[in-house]
Amino acid sequence: MTTPKANKILVLGGGGFIGSHLTQRLLEGGYEVTVVDLFDGKISEYIGDPKLKFLRHDIRARDWGMEELVKWSDLVIDLVAYANPGLYVKIPLEVFRLNFTENLHIAETCVKQNRRLIQFSTCEVYGRTVASIPAAGLKDPEDPKHATFSEDSSEFILGAVNKHRWIYSCAKQLLERVLHAYGLEQGFNYSIIRPFNFIGPKIDFLASEQDGIPRVFSFFMDALIHSQPLKLVNGGVNRRCYTYIEDAVECTYRIVENPGGACDRQIFNIGSPENEVSIRQLAELMREIYRRKYLKPGQALSEIEVVSGEEFYGEGYEDSDRRIPDITKARKLLGWEPKWKLGDLVEASMDYQMECHLNQRLVTQQTGG
Ligand code: NAD
Ligand code: UGA
Repeated sequence: MTTPKANKILVLGGGGFIGSHLTQRLLEGGYEVTVVDLFDGKISEYIGDPKLKFLRHDIRARDWGMEELVKWSDLVIDLVAYANPGLYVKIPLEVFRLNFTENLHIAETCVKQNRRLIQFSTCEVYGRTVASIPAAGLKDPEDPKHATFSEDSSEFILGAVNKHRWIYSCAKQLLERVLHAYGLEQGFNYSIIRPFNFIGPKIDFLASEQDGIPRVFSFFMDALIHSQPLKLVNGGVNRRCYTYIEDAVECTYRIVENPGGACDRQIFNIGSPENEVSIRQLAELMREIYRRKYLKPGQALSEIEVVSGEEFYGEGYEDSDRRIPDITKARKLLGWEPKWKLGDLVEASMDYQMECHLNQRLVTQQTGG
């Protein structure tokens, strides 16, 4: 049985980076949207739209109205999480509680009320590659096939328990497994999204302007603006595939629309396999764009400095070495194709950040820490 088209959508965490862009797209698509978040800074421009309701709630509180809101909705999209690696190291228990326990309450409310759920998970569930394990003794460790992850067949490889960075991956993985089990045993209708390093306007915040630990793009922007070194954790050898938020939201929107029920009980990688880059290359690219477009006369261009993971994040940090999304499923079921190339998407993200900085507009909000 397929779910009828949704009209009323509850977006939990809709005030965040991905949520704010998704909210905009849903409003453009004519949906009625209720956003629940601790912050509204990133969606302030849409507040006043008659189709949008913003409710400031902490989903960890009891009696914040979850039951009524889920009942009101046709579809729930859950983006609430601590999503920055610095937090996995600093407050692993809180990461588990929010990203698993609290999200489970939401999922179980959807099960009870028979509402479709789109759950944001992570590409971090895949963990490390087999090529990162020396004992695997691969003949061709650089072959991208060892780092290309498929939703329904790849193995998950995580580090030891005392490397608590993996609690994020593990909590998200467990949540996925519970959703799968509800689907299997009770016919629960969900879709899971595994994002691969989305970047773009409104990502995170600059640590010099707010307390907290953002993701790498914001660390590098902050360093460039203030002529501080770009710190490469463990030499910046690890690789990521960067995905522009516009491409990511387009794919998510198609999952919301769920043509012919194609997304029922499906997991989707969303990412740009062509945009692979090492963190050192990302630093060099951002440095070069900054030099060309934004360096002021007399301003020093940031240098690059190597730091250890422990020094930068603290004890318990370990890293995903490489991850390339297999997006065959999104291509086939949704006709989706990412359009943005690495150089363009990094430059567009930097342009937005610089515009905020030059107009002294905060890219607001801190989550956790
Ligand atoms: P984000 O931090 O910008 O968004 C999360 C939102 O949740 C924030 O607006 C935050 O205020 C809200 N929130 C946190 N705790 C809350 C609470 N107790 N009550 C109510 N709201 C709360 O992060 P994002 O990058 O937009 O990520 C959204 C989702 O996608 C997360 O589940 C994350 O794990 C997942 N994800 C994102 C990426 C990416 O590339 N950005 C990659 C992998 C996974
Ligand atoms: C993050 C988070 O785990 C999640 O938001 C999400 O699941 C995932 O991104 C994603 O976006 O797909 P990660 O890519 O490790 O994971 O997060 P970043 O903080 O952006 O770090 C990327 C890489 O840059 C890591 O290797 C990190 O060690 C390195 N880094 C970070 C630096 O070299 N310098 C810095 O200043 C910051």
